[in-house]
Amino acid sequence: MKRLAARPLLALLAALALPAHADNYGVPKNAAFEEECTSCHMAYPPQMLHADSWRAMMNGLSKHFGSDASIDEKRRTAITDFLVAHSGGRKTGDTRDAQCKPLLRISETERFAKKHREISAATWKRAAIKSPANCTACHAQAAAGNYSDHSVNIPR
Ligand code: HEC
Ligand code: HEC
Repeated sequence: MKRLAARPLLALLAALALPAHADNYGVPKNAAFEEECTSCHMAYPPQMLHADSWRAMMNGLSKHFGSDASIDEKRRTAITDFLVAHSGGRKTGDTRDAQCKPLLRISETERFAKKHREISAATWKRAAIKSPANCTACHAQAAAGNYSDHSVNIPR
């Protein structure tokens, strides 16, 4: 009898342990975001930047990292609301630079630097990688929000 009772308890404990264990950066569903923000690159998780960073980015889409990513005002407002609603909280930390200006790149945040401190400058420049922004080069499951060390593979 004792053994039977222990099983549901173990299952419950495993379920409770899961969210704390695996960082899940799955991108919440949003049609406008998918249409406008995934044609040039993967869907970056809103959870990885502070709301101020998203607002600043969405206010400068005509000069978006050397690209013109501007969209009509209605969509811009809708996507901004979506990004802000799902923006990073305590765990992502502040995503501002030393002058308190919002950083626009996830790949320039302190948290990113900490998680990637073992990767050398030469590695970032490899032909198969090119840019730290190219998350999918190393995180094959990034599109599904999975950045765990089990699915990391740095291309040669
Ligand atoms: C016309 C192409 C284009 C569109 C459309 C576009 N982007 Fe980008 N985005 C870029 C380029 C180019 C970069 C820089 C990539 C690099 O450094 O390798 C970039 C970089 C980014 C980064 C920073 C990645 C990093 O380094 O951490 C974020 C965040 C981002 N885009 C969000 C968005 C959002 C949100 C939208 C939709 C409103 C969007 N992008 C639409 C071209 C685009
Ligand atoms: C050159 C390959 C490479 C690129 C490009 C890259 N990463 Fe990583 N990333 C790694 C490695 C290696 C680790 C460390 C895995 C470990 O040992 O825990 C890591 C760790 C992480 C972690 C921590 C995972 C955890 O469970 O602690 C996150 C989150 C992450 N990366 C997000 C990103 C994002 C977002 C991008 C793009 C903006 C990106 N990475 C680009 C190689 C890369």
